[in-house]
Amino acid sequence: MPGKKIDIFDTTLRDGEQVPGCKLNTKEKIELALALEDLGVDIIEAGFPISSPGDFSSVREITKVIKRASVCGLSRAVQKDIEVAADALKYAVRPRIHTGIGTSDFHIKSKFNSNREEILLRAVQSVKWAKNFVDDVEFYAEDAGRTDNHYLAQVIEAVIAAGATVVNIPDTTGYCLPHQYGEKIAYLVNHVSNIDRATISCHCHNDLGLATANSIAGIISGAGQIECTINGLGERAGNTSLEEVVMVIKQHQQTLGFYTNIKTRQLNPVSQLVSDIMRMPVQPNKAIVGGNAFAHSSGIHQDGFLKDSLTYEIINPEEVGAGESKIVLTARSGRSALAHRFRKLGHEFTRNDIDVLYERFLLVADKKKEVNDEDLHELAKQYHEETVEAHIPRPYRHGRA
Ligand code: KIV
Ligand code: ZN
Repeated sequence: MPGKKIDIFDTTLRDGEQVPGCKLNTKEKIELALALEDLGVDIIEAGFPISSPGDFSSVREITKVIKRASVCGLSRAVQKDIEVAADALKYAVRPRIHTGIGTSDFHIKSKFNSNREEILLRAVQSVKWAKNFVDDVEFYAEDAGRTDNHYLAQVIEAVIAAGATVVNIPDTTGYCLPHQYGEKIAYLVNHVSNIDRATISCHCHNDLGLATANSIAGIISGAGQIECTINGLGERAGNTSLEEVVMVIKQHQQTLGFYTNIKTRQLNPVSQLVSDIMRMPVQPNKAIVGGNAFAHSSGIHQDGFLKDSLTYEIINPEEVGAGESKIVLTARSGRSALAHRFRKLGHEFTRNDIDVLYERFLLVADKKKEVNDEDLHELAKQYHEETVEAHIPRPYRHGRA
């Protein structure tokens, strides 16, 4: 596969699970972790072990079944957190501790009542402490999106010197514009002297609907990992959606020169599994995995799509495990879609027949949101009866002696 490999770090089980109502038990988390490994994600963030005994044991049980992907546990820049995360990860084949601290002035002043020097020291100490337990230590600079670039570069250089293998640059509040986030990553690439010793990671939130665009801007500027969730679940407006970044990378492989190890045909089945287990429906217009992502409903689109699917589809739905494209019949649909559906249902009609049937179809469609196969069978049946009757000599027609 040509180009640069982008690591996919899935945080559905940690940031995704922070969504109110999406709390999972250990059995459910194991089922999802196995599905994520099978999907091809490189790192599974399994939880925040110190947060509760349940989360600790979920992380521990996940490490026992996951063999290929790295399993990651979150911690704050606090010794006890790091020790508990290390303990939860002790059976992992590839353990990673994800530790960090807020670096923006909002966090430094309001959250920690501290100063930049002290925060830098705590960042370094936390990475050094985590290195006593695992080789793979990821550092997150919380609210990096609103952190002064000069200070951020100092922190990142110091944590890499302390042993961080991955440096996560979260846009925690989803504030950045794509070019700003891209420039932030480029700034680190150009101003952190030891940056070649670590992978830069993008962790973008979707408060302004920019998480996917920001993550892509990040990898264009030199990041090598994207943190994301299935269906874009996560705090508030959610995280970068895994299926979106993976398909952006795949669709624009020639232009961007990146690839991932995700088996894209499993995207829709895994999305459905997450939605079912978390009891969180996927919005119908969600890119890649929404119910309408491959549905065509207006007459102009349907006609073009039926002539050549490429006129209105940039992705073959089978490529993302979404089955077949759908032609939805509504009052905005046209004659070619109606004829197509009749044919699929086994009714062959001439152009003139369709002209008549289309007028009747519109009357039904104006009353209903969507015209279904039963409605069409009924229209076809009535029409057949009328045309057969029209060919029977008058005295023998239905209802007459
Ligand atoms: O959004 C964020 O900053 C986070 C960190 C804990 C990585 O989720
Ligand atoms: Zn987050």
